[in-house]
Amino acid sequence: MNHYHCEVTIELADSDSKIYENSVESGRELAAKSREIEVQFQRKTLFTRIVPETVYNPYHTTAAPLFMDLIIKGLIPVEGLRVIDLGCGSGVIGLAAALMNCERVLYTDINANVISIGQHNLFRPQDRVAVQNFCETEQPASYDLVLTSTPSIIVPSNLPNDSYEQSVFRETDFISKMITDVAKVLVPSGTFIFFYRMYPSQIDLFAEMIAQLNEGFDMSSLHCLFRYPEGGESNFPGIVNINGNNWSYTTSRLESTTTSKIDAISEDVYPEEGGSIATIFSVRRK
Ligand SMILES: C[S@@+](CC[C@H](N)C(=O)[O-])C[C@H]1O[C@@H](n2cnc3c(N)ncnc32)[C@H](O)[C@@H]1O
Repeated sequence: MNHYHCEVTIELADSDSKIYENSVESGRELAAKSREIEVQFQRKTLFTRIVPETVYNPYHTTAAPLFMDLIIKGLIPVEGLRVIDLGCGSGVIGLAAALMNCERVLYTDINANVISIGQHNLFRPQDRVAVQNFCETEQPASYDLVLTSTPSIIVPSNLPNDSYEQSVFRETDFISKMITDVAKVLVPSGTFIFFYRMYPSQIDLFAEMIAQLNEGFDMSSLHCLFRYPEGGESNFPGIVNINGNNWSYTTSRLESTTTSKIDAISEDVYPEEGGSIATIFSVRRK
């Protein structure tokens, strides 16, 4: 098993924002006004971005720096691929893909305030930005790679439009809609890579997602690019860690057992949330 060190960091230009223990409160404070961030790799500036008000600011978060690091190190290969940055927020994940010469990026989000990504100096003529629910207006089988970082906290319904809340809360049918749309837009053998935070109390939802993926994706290709922290499986009913290198999942909602290889465990320290395990999974379209 590899140990992984993320060398992408995000700095905030203004230092007046408080970081709270509760990540929802920190995020709300960050999104209360537009703020400039600087994205660095090995302490050198890659690009800057003014994150608009209400848009999820990736400063002090887990997923976006990891995605960018995996892209820049070639562990998520993007060159020549048609990429969707789904739920793009500030768009930093798509900008990293553009830097690494992907063919084109669709930046897309339900929050209309993301649109200014179209003025960024790394946004190319072939790239596009679209405000929509998942990928509902996209053509079937038109992309090679979809990258996304899902909101983690489940709420019943009715999130306000164009709000920070849409970044961190998701309605109960969110995952099933997302998987349906991603399966639609990917070409056969196209890749879906998603950040997912697993909570011990919501392990059935994770199992449900795996079961849904089974319909359109090749589950033998499922693997976990990254997980944090090490250990803790005993808190997750239905998840068994085999020799530290594989996970197998069986819960009441799954009829069969799914096994996924784990590529790397982080040696960096990330905020712990409610005993959760932070993961990035990759799976290929059938
Ligand atoms: C956790 S944030 C991640 C933002 C960015 N990718 C990052 O890593 O910093 C989730 C994003 O998903 C967007 N989102 C929520 N529901 C969505 C939907 N139904 N369709 C498209 N995007 C959605 C939110 O507006 C938010 O920008």
